[in-house]
Amino acid sequence: MTAVAEALREGLRNRGLAWAAEIEHRGQLVSTNDRLKDRARDGAPEWTVVLADEQTGGRGRQGRTWFSPPGGLYLSLLLRPRFEAFGLIPLTAGVALVEALREHGVAAELKWPNDALAGGRKVAGILAEASSSAGRLDWVVLGIGVNLQVVEGLPQGVREAATSISTLTGAQVEPVVAATAVLAHLSLWYDALRVDPASVVRAWSERALAWWGRPVELQSGGQTVRGIAEGIDASGALVLIGEDGGRTAVLSGDVTAVRLES
Ligand code: BTN
Repeated sequence: MTAVAEALREGLRNRGLAWAAEIEHRGQLVSTNDRLKDRARDGAPEWTVVLADEQTGGRGRQGRTWFSPPGGLYLSLLLRPRFEAFGLIPLTAGVALVEALREHGVAAELKWPNDALAGGRKVAGILAEASSSAGRLDWVVLGIGVNLQVVEGLPQGVREAATSISTLTGAQVEPVVAATAVLAHLSLWYDALRVDPASVVRAWSERALAWWGRPVELQSGGQTVRGIAEGIDASGALVLIGEDGGRTAVLSGDVTAVRLES
């Protein structure tokens, strides 16, 4: 085990969490999600963690690239849920992520489905990937990326849309410290999801208040849907109210705020 993996295990132990599963730490990986998906297929147990100092092929939602230079947090967690509400795992991770960021002095908000924004810019993101066979969910790999430091050399579009903990607070947070906070909050909120999924939906909604009642545009499956963002439903779908007053629940997509046309 590397010193980083040992420090993460120790940090979790200090918070009362005996992490039984393996914590795999690598200097460089193509993608921690890809590595953990391979491990999941080989039968790795729930709560196995993979983290890397940098990724050469970090992936974001909707096929996007997640720039992953040294200094950021790149972490994936394996879950094997055996309960109905597993569809809320990405939102559960969003709530945990916002609480972990708060420990580092960042007041982040959530943007559906699960971006963490601070000052309107993205500070962290979540990529959940799942596999099922014979109608049964086998595993979920939850990938989390947090921008810890000012990142040089980002492409223009990304630089304008992104921020980092050091930009926001001036503090240099070590990846292992950020990983400890993320995993500790995730563990707590995963328990909440198991026993009371509605509490996760409520917690998520409260951390995305800026969006409710706002006109938004949503790109989903090659289609554009417009409406007023009303909230999320019990399954985590975003509910939009259209011009005709009808409600549409959307399960995936990218949301942007738009101005009301006069
Ligand atoms: C997004 O907001 O688009 C999701 C970004 C998720 C990035 C993380 S970094 C660790 C894990 N490995 C990956 O390749 N992606 C996720």
